[in-house]
Amino acid sequence: MSAEALKRAAGERAAALVEDGMRLGLGSGSTAAAFVAALGQRVRGGLRVVGVPTSERTRVQAEREGIPLTTLDECPELDLAVDGADEIDGDLRLIKGGGGALLREKIVAAASRRMIVIADASKRVERLGRFPLPIEVVPFGLGATRRAVAAALQRAGCSGELHLRQAADAVFETDGGHYILDAHLGQIAEPERLADALKSVPGVVEHGLFLGLASGAIIAGESGLMEIGQV
Ligand code: A5P
Repeated sequence: MSAEALKRAAGERAAALVEDGMRLGLGSGSTAAAFVAALGQRVRGGLRVVGVPTSERTRVQAEREGIPLTTLDECPELDLAVDGADEIDGDLRLIKGGGGALLREKIVAAASRRMIVIADASKRVERLGRFPLPIEVVPFGLGATRRAVAAALQRAGCSGELHLRQAADAVFETDGGHYILDAHLGQIAEPERLADALKSVPGVVEHGLFLGLASGAIIAGESGLMEIGQV
């Protein structure tokens, strides 16, 4: 099966879990896009939901699909967030932010009573860290923040290069106008320790470790769909 087909299978399964009247967090990335497409189909069939998009790209897609949208100001508590991941371990710990939407994704996940992760089997790992960890920083003071981030990584027992993420012809900017430092760590021995260390750095807005946020996951592989945790 192609990666596209696996993502579609996970997205459709998650869309089937949505109940009438739910307030939803709509994730970002290609797997979340498969969910939004499947949800759009259900909405056009009469399902009533409202969604909070986690990126401008998802907002545009959801509008095109006819999914009614709201904000966390109008609707500060959500029933369910469905989102993809760049890595997921056996304890439902995630690395997210490969698409740069980690800040809104984390705010939406934290505002949701449940978060379900959808992914193809390539995202399952024994230990987090092979995927570069996105660290979102404010542009002001970048040099000093970068130095402090490197020290924080070391304090947390990690080492590796920090790359300022680039777009086609400029520094990549998130929807919030921030930059991203991608930390190439290889492995993260203690994700909680690293999360604490990064949060203590002024200038770090957020990082891509999602710990204790996912309640369940739907993983699509060659042998079918596998569920972890509470789906
Ligand atoms: C977006 O910022 C990310 O967190 C995505 O959810 C993650 O990168 C997974 O994307 P794909 O589903 O496209 O692999």
